[in-house]
Amino acid sequence: MRELFMIVVTGATGNVGRSLVRILADAGRRVTATSRRISDADVPRGVRHHRVDLTTPEVLRPVLDSADALFLHDTATSAHLLRPQDILDAAKAGGVGRVVVLSSQGVATRPASASHGIVGRSIEDAVRRSGMDWTILRPGGFHSNAYAWSESVRTRRTVAAPFGDIGLPTVDPADIAGVAAAALHEDGHAGQVYELTGPALTTPRQRVRAIGDALGEPVRFVEQTRDEARAEMLRFMPEPVVETTLAILGEPTPAERRVSPDVERVLGRAPGSFADWARRHAAAFR
Ligand SMILES: NC(=O)c1ccc[n+]([C@@H]2O[C@H](COP(=O)([O-])OP(=O)(O)OC[C@H]3O[C@@H](n4cnc5c(N)ncnc54)[C@H](OP(=O)(O)O)[C@@H]3O)[C@@H](O)[C@H]2O)c1
Repeated sequence: MRELFMIVVTGATGNVGRSLVRILADAGRRVTATSRRISDADVPRGVRHHRVDLTTPEVLRPVLDSADALFLHDTATSAHLLRPQDILDAAKAGGVGRVVVLSSQGVATRPASASHGIVGRSIEDAVRRSGMDWTILRPGGFHSNAYAWSESVRTRRTVAAPFGDIGLPTVDPADIAGVAAAALHEDGHAGQVYELTGPALTTPRQRVRAIGDALGEPVRFVEQTRDEARAEMLRFMPEPVVETTLAILGEPTPAERRVSPDVERVLGRAPGSFADWARRHAAAFR
């Protein structure tokens, strides 16, 4: 196989993309990091970056022209109802031969959900039809969703959340990035769909305790009713997203509660725990 010499990362300032850029740069790969507001401070020294709004994919064309592989972040494509086909066509025309897409477990477990299933499926379908080598990443809930609690932990040492005793195997975005990096620069991942979870089920109550342990101070857990949680989530999420999210948190399917072997299969080590993530990110909660 020819040496991949340039990897374009979209969503490079996000939870997954930021780790991915660092992993690729540390491995000596040439990376171009992109997002709408990216600046020098967002990337390791020496990493090229471009401000690109994927709702106008023409601006991505010159970046893709010198690229061999593309990490396609779904936020930018789905949130703006952009046809991912435009980006994939530009990538193929630029000579990109390999695409790794950040999708969601919901494509398989919530196929009828507009937010979690249908949009994700249309991105995945476009990637499968692209004619490039593709790898699809389907993570479950991220450890980093706990950032939503950071302000109430900082100011009141309290978290209010629903379904306190229902466990899900949330995943470290750094592990998603690790798997993405492998699929971008190693052979053997073409045509694979990886389901990415953490190493164990943890409940919201246990995650809050882990944040307290990382801080060295107790954090109080207050269980919200479903209606209280819905009212709060509706302040920053569209209604269909809220309903599907509440269903996953409150009535997860067996597939959503299953610990997947895929992170360990690809990375050769167990996925990172929530407690480990909380220790590494304790500063956000101080
Ligand atoms: N959180 C979960 O539990 C979960 C579970 C399963 C799947 N997922 C998937 O993972 C994604 C979230 O990943 P994440 O946490 O890494 O995301 P994130 O932290 O929210 O980052 C989003 C990235 O996309 C960039 N972006 C947004 N709109 C853009 C646009 N129009 N053009 C170019 N760049 C744009 C943002 O940078 P700028 O603002 O600078 O543009 C940022 O770099 C979601 O789309 C979701 O489908 C999440």
